[in-house]
Amino acid sequence: MALLEVQAGERFHSVGMSDVADHVPDQQALSRSQRQGLIWVAEEDGKIAGYIVARVLDGNAHIEQVSVAPTHARRGIGRRLISHLEMWGRHNDRPATTLTTFRDVPWNGPYYRKLGYRELHGAEIGRELAAAMQHEASLPGIDASRRCAMIKYNGDVS
Ligand SMILES: CC(C)(COP(=O)(O)OP(=O)(O)OC[C@H]1O[C@@H](n2cnc3c(N)ncnc32)[C@H](O)[C@@H]1OP(=O)(O)O)[C@@H](O)C(=O)NCCC(=O)NCCS
Repeated sequence: MALLEVQAGERFHSVGMSDVADHVPDQQALSRSQRQGLIWVAEEDGKIAGYIVARVLDGNAHIEQVSVAPTHARRGIGRRLISHLEMWGRHNDRPATTLTTFRDVPWNGPYYRKLGYRELHGAEIGRELAAAMQHEASLPGIDASRRCAMIKYNGDVS
């Protein structure tokens, strides 16, 4: 899975964000999420084509990471993984799904807008979500001014 995340991240070279592309996934965190049952995988021909990692922030389901192999891109795998995580949130009585992303990278902010997410501003951003954004801002190549938090309430149409 960590390898897939690296391959998926290579897209960021094409928009001049090499630090983001070269980001090394945290294996321990991935294993921890896996043990907690917070990772779902999409398989194609017996191989992992994509995966999504969930957590709970401010009482909402939160997309920690979603990655699809470039070889399997734009076939709806990301959309299906995200929809599965949203369903998990609904089953666990989470009122909404949140995420953080780059506002203007085509497969980030605009993609999530297409899926029914909208940007959160100021005090709308919960304490735990704000802390996650603050941590991300400390990572190499993350320009905080280009990052945003987004939300989709259960019941919103995509
Ligand atoms: C975001 C991601 C998971 C989407 O997965 P996917 O399975 O390719 O996406 P879907 O098939 O569900 O949706 C395709 C849509 O995504 C957007 N998209 C995906 N790749 C794109 C690209 N290279 N350029 C522009 N738009 C792109 C488009 O809106 C596209 O719709 P279209 O094909 O009709 O134009 C995948 O691009 C990825 O792994 N990116 C790298 C990691 C990442 O940025 N994760 C999100 C962090 S917040």
